[in-house]
Amino acid sequence: MLEWFAIDLIKQAGEYIRQQIDERYEIERKTGKGDLVTEIDRAVEQLIVDRIQDAYPNHHIVGEEGISTGPADLTGTVWFVDPIDGTLNFIHQKRMFAISVAIMIDEVVEYGFVYDVMADELFVARRNQGATLNGRILPAIREHYVRDAFLSMNATWVTPNRQIAPEVLAPIVKDSVGTRAHGAASLELAWLAAGRVDGYITMRNMPWDYAAGKLLVEEVGGRVASLYGEPIRYDGKTSVLAGSETFVNDVVKHYVIAKGATPEVRPDLEIQPQAS
Ligand code: IPD
Ligand code: CA
Ligand code: CA
Ligand code: CA
Repeated sequence: MLEWFAIDLIKQAGEYIRQQIDERYEIERKTGKGDLVTEIDRAVEQLIVDRIQDAYPNHHIVGEEGISTGPADLTGTVWFVDPIDGTLNFIHQKRMFAISVAIMIDEVVEYGFVYDVMADELFVARRNQGATLNGRILPAIREHYVRDAFLSMNATWVTPNRQIAPEVLAPIVKDSVGTRAHGAASLELAWLAAGRVDGYITMRNMPWDYAAGKLLVEEVGGRVASLYGEPIRYDGKTSVLAGSETFVNDVVKHYVIAKGATPEVRPDLEIQPQAS
């Protein structure tokens, strides 16, 4: 029931984006030149929020653009909504962005949906019932070590940044088969679940970026943790390390802990680079 409602909603939002993508729309800067929001992001979130509030007035919504006032805590039913994940791709490439929606019930994510709007690929995960891509069941994830993994990771994290010392992640880039920066966290996790990449690493994601994709990865037998191997929380910013159990263990043990990188204490605090 909830699943079909969500799918219908996401497909409607996708259709709206496809209609608007070649039209003129306003673009605003949020925190900087790489952090933009368009009027389409806001309109899509509004459309999704209106429909959820109409059908389920008791549900809460945590959306990136803050159209709905979020809940005080994560009890009851909470929707995590990213109306356009990969806004830079949406603006510049007109493809490789997704609508990401997750439904959490009593603090457990029960459903995850990632919709690649331009490719018309809908990834759906239902907790303990597996994951599908356009209705086809996704097979179990294949085990990989870093040395035989094809990775999705943004180059930012191996340049000086406020989250991690570049020398922690640089050896992973060097040892892996290859890295790609796809620019849409939810899609990168969905592609991991579909076996198109073998690992995903980022130092800064929000729950609306990863909640749906995390369930997709878990439902094919993969693991999603912080870079330090800790469970992921849903109350703020976090690093995300995703892949097979073998891959995640390999990264945590042989790269992160081996480098003495410090775990995040609070997800809302930024990690300062290690002294070199
Ligand atoms: C961003 C994308 C990007 C990730 C950022 C996200 P947005 O989402 O998922 O790949 O690296 O952390 O904020 O802003 O395009 O929805
Ligand atoms: Ca954004
Ligand atoms: Ca996002
Ligand atoms: Ca977004």
